[in-house]
Amino acid sequence: MQTDTIQRQYDEVIAQHYDLDPQNVTGDSLDKAVEQLQSTENLKLAESALRILDVGCGTGMFCERLRNEAGMSIDPYGLDLSQAMVDIAGERISDMKLAVDDAANLDDHFQDVSFNIICTHFMTGFVPIDVLAPKIHNKLDEGGYWSFVGGTMGGFPNLQKKADLKILKMIFGGKSIDTPSLVSNPQDEADVVQKLQSHGFEVCQSETFQPEVNFANFDEFMDFAYRGGWLTPFVEKLGLHKLNRTSQAILNKLAFPIKDHHSIVLALARKQNQ
Ligand SMILES: C[S@@+](CC[C@H](N)C(=O)[O-])C[C@H]1O[C@@H](n2cnc3c(N)ncnc32)[C@H](O)[C@@H]1O
Repeated sequence: MQTDTIQRQYDEVIAQHYDLDPQNVTGDSLDKAVEQLQSTENLKLAESALRILDVGCGTGMFCERLRNEAGMSIDPYGLDLSQAMVDIAGERISDMKLAVDDAANLDDHFQDVSFNIICTHFMTGFVPIDVLAPKIHNKLDEGGYWSFVGGTMGGFPNLQKKADLKILKMIFGGKSIDTPSLVSNPQDEADVVQKLQSHGFEVCQSETFQPEVNFANFDEFMDFAYRGGWLTPFVEKLGLHKLNRTSQAILNKLAFPIKDHHSIVLALARKQNQ
């Protein structure tokens, strides 16, 4: 997926809705990532504020949680492709040092700083782990931590099945979605662990979180999938954001309600001493 398309989707569609977090999938996942850091003894020993870089920081939800809910002393930095997301992060966390750019250019930013913690949360659908890993390795202190949270290809199996239904394809012009061309998500937890290890990280904790999602109707689905950002590229590819009322009514009859789950890997990895 083109970076300028993702940037437009976040700037123009998602940013104004992102913090509503319908179905609480983001909030619940970030709470788990906070717990992983909180249970890490080495971080409790820090004598000064932890320098933390959130790559794809979005609206700053994670650093806010670390500081306000977990009570951690942090010196926050963030990078994100979307100016609109970064603007919200800056309002939320006034001392967060922020840059707007593609994470593929991470080396060009915050060049004089090394970090105790770097986060990538729901980022590796846009920029593959193998691209991010060497850049994160470079910017971490020896023994620093990578807080990884990311969706996998195993997410939303029921939605994937519905999208493949012949009758729906007939009604909606036979469009089908080629998932790997739209997202670069890892396959599963084993894939994440293997990739982190291959880039010189020791995986200290990992788990797969499968939160349920429920859509009573098309509108609830669009709040989550389109305006909430979870499946915006797929929605645009299928043209669902442009459906007229009649087509929405047909879809409501044929496809909803839908119950499904995401599949999210949370890993805390440590840069190994060289
Ligand atoms: C699903 S949001 C996650 C935001 C935040 N990490 C969180 O967990 O709430 C994905 C974020 O990644 C950003 N993003 C997408 N592609 C990017 C890229 N190539 N470089 C930097 N940021 C990117 C988007 O602008 C968006 O803010």
